[in-house]
Amino acid sequence: MHSPAKISPKFMNKKSSNVVWHNATVTRERRQQKNKHKGGLFWFTGFSGSGKSTLAHAVEESLFQKGYNTYVLDGDNVRHGLCADLGFSDSDRKENIRRISQMSNLFVQAGVIVLTAFISPFRIDRQNARKIAGKDFHEIFCDCSLDICESRDVKGLYKKARAGEIPFFTGIDSPYEAPEHAELVTNTGSDLEQSIEQVYKYIQEQVKCK
Ligand code: ADX
Repeated sequence: MHSPAKISPKFMNKKSSNVVWHNATVTRERRQQKNKHKGGLFWFTGFSGSGKSTLAHAVEESLFQKGYNTYVLDGDNVRHGLCADLGFSDSDRKENIRRISQMSNLFVQAGVIVLTAFISPFRIDRQNARKIAGKDFHEIFCDCSLDICESRDVKGLYKKARAGEIPFFTGIDSPYEAPEHAELVTNTGSDLEQSIEQVYKYIQEQVKCK
């Protein structure tokens, strides 16, 4: 039987060789001048049902109406395409977040304000996203207790998870590591309008061309 070659962890994600980075003539600065705002990665994290997607889409709506270039990347949507081959084991979640981090960073280079809505339960994976996007990365913790998320159970998944029908469900039998140094903490357990206002203001301030 064919046994896979051992790969040094250093090269785990880099199988391509003889590839050379091509510098674009349309630079980030030129895009900013045209857009009249900077790109940025606004990384929403929290339990399933904590309101990440709802909040991200509502904030995007407000920004878009004001003329900003925006895009929301959402867990459930991305898992229909780019990450359709991934499940919810720790390693699959890691790969999910790695792909999204890289993709989001490309959007940022293209001058877009990216709002990502993924549980992204592991600190190390969010830290890697931060490393990739550097100063453009902003962690937004959608702070909502598991009890509230479970009582909402918008998609009926908590009920299924409690019944043992969904393995590795975040908060039930898979961990969630809350951010310790998020740029912004928003309480998504009660007043959505207040969260929208808070996050909108924060993003507007961060993407200003100074
Ligand atoms: S992440 O952990 O890899 O960041 P992601 O945000 O992409 O997760 O997907 C989470 C969504 O997938 C949840 O909102 C929920 O609708 C669905 N889902 C299905 N199975 C699970 C599971 N085992 N744990 C958490 N969410 C799940």
